[in-house]
Amino acid sequence: MKNGDVSHGRRRFLVGATAAVGGVGIVGAAVPFVASWNPSAKAEAAGAPVTVNIEKIESGQQITVEWRGTPVWIIRRTTEMLDNIEKLSDQMKDPQSEADQQPTYANDVFRSINPEYAVLVGLCTHLGCVPSYRPEVAPSDLGEDWLGGLFCPCHGSRYDMAGRVYDAQPAPLNLVVPPHRYDDDMTLTLGLDPEVA
Ligand code: FES
Repeated sequence: MKNGDVSHGRRRFLVGATAAVGGVGIVGAAVPFVASWNPSAKAEAAGAPVTVNIEKIESGQQITVEWRGTPVWIIRRTTEMLDNIEKLSDQMKDPQSEADQQPTYANDVFRSINPEYAVLVGLCTHLGCVPSYRPEVAPSDLGEDWLGGLFCPCHGSRYDMAGRVYDAQPAPLNLVVPPHRYDDDMTLTLGLDPEVA
């Protein structure tokens, strides 16, 4: 794997994201999805918060939102996915998320505010490729032990549905959880922390 390949993967994402509705990238894993936000391109590039309507994300679906020029995934996890996260903890490099890869309010086994939704920066912590969303259980190419997660095609790093990296992978760290908050049950904002009462 050469550095050029990493850049190429990242460029491919950015090109795809830019082509999405309104110049702001939000791409469903299977179904295109339109969010309820419209920051200017300039504000977005500067890192403005991005508000996403999560109402139409189906159980088990992943969508991709562009924030600060990087892909951020929102995955609506099923009950089975949540059960598997707990089962897999002893196979993870940092099962309790002790490294500084998430805000303190997402510092648990599910790495989330609301366990139903994973919010993760979609860049591998090895060399920055974009991993693939692989929710299937025991697909032939990933083996019968695979319980669903994220798979990096560049050097094979494996992550679970909480973005925790398995032991003995090239990637050194869990995926990053970006700052985010819920404005209400159906609205999530990337780039802002929860309001403290
Ligand atoms: S970039 Fe090397 S495993 Fe993901």
